[in-house]
Amino acid sequence: MIDNLDIYNFKEDEQEDDREIISDLQNSEQKKINSKHFYDEKGSRLFDKISELKEYYPTRTELEIIEKQKYSFKNNLPSNASIIEFGSGSNKKIKKLLNALDKPKEYISIDISYDFLIVNAKEIAKKFPKLNVKAICADLYQLGSISKIINENSQKIGFFPGSTIGNFSENEAKNLLMGFKKILGKNSFLIIGVDLRKDKKIMEKAYNDSKGITAEFNKNILNGINKKIGSKFNIKNFEHKAYFNEKKKRIEMHLISRQNQNIPLKDYDLKILKGESIHTENSHKYSALEFEKLALSSGYKKIDFLTDQKKYFGIFLLKVLGN
Ligand code: TRP
Repeated sequence: MIDNLDIYNFKEDEQEDDREIISDLQNSEQKKINSKHFYDEKGSRLFDKISELKEYYPTRTELEIIEKQKYSFKNNLPSNASIIEFGSGSNKKIKKLLNALDKPKEYISIDISYDFLIVNAKEIAKKFPKLNVKAICADLYQLGSISKIINENSQKIGFFPGSTIGNFSENEAKNLLMGFKKILGKNSFLIIGVDLRKDKKIMEKAYNDSKGITAEFNKNILNGINKKIGSKFNIKNFEHKAYFNEKKKRIEMHLISRQNQNIPLKDYDLKILKGESIHTENSHKYSALEFEKLALSSGYKKIDFLTDQKKYFGIFLLKVLGN
């Protein structure tokens, strides 16, 4: 028992989830798997390893921005606030942010990987004994149920670091930003990380590292799916592919079948042809201006924009407009 930690589990209806996985795999235009399935225990650990690779600049750059420009957080954001992190992952960023802010009162950590979430929330609760910590196991599509346990009166700062916003299409991103606004309420703020568009070679390398960790991470989604729906994907029969789609301004991650194969799913076989892909993730890259416009059209105004010297990564400090 840790005095300053409460745990909530909102894990989605599993059957609903299974049906979605199967219909996505059956999609006749393009087979796909929702990227939220990357983050089982092993996937979360592999992503942590990715974030330390020399080719994967986003995590390192974002941490450096928070560290070097911590005064912007203190000067622009309220004291005694509740910090709500949407999709927490590891503790590296939140620790830096909690240290940069003035007397944060509460930390609400939301993540879909239960074990990872609890281990991390415990660490924060111990490290910051005056902070009230709430760990909520849920995915970002369940924001409605989350809002019920969030205190309406506290002043809130949403935290959405990494390039997770880029993993949604522009329309989805807008809906998500509007969903955050409902939870955050009046006079609240949102700190959001955005991976900026840059030289294609640099972006592509970040998703094709020389140690093959990214490939392992991408393939691991199939192990997770096997466990979940009892399918029999063999990861050896797939190849990792990641490239920048110029037209759509996004890195696309795919698993390419090395051969014609039949994958036993629940009650039938899924046919996959040699060379056919399963689309696993998009990572949209924005210019600072494009993102500012998206934020504005979702009901936020820019308070500050922080970036690194090379302008690889951006952190927006946004304020909820009106409501
Ligand atoms: N959110 C991360 C990103 O878009 C996810 C990610 C990094 C990822 N490397 C990956 C997803 C490789 C699939 C495959 O940067």
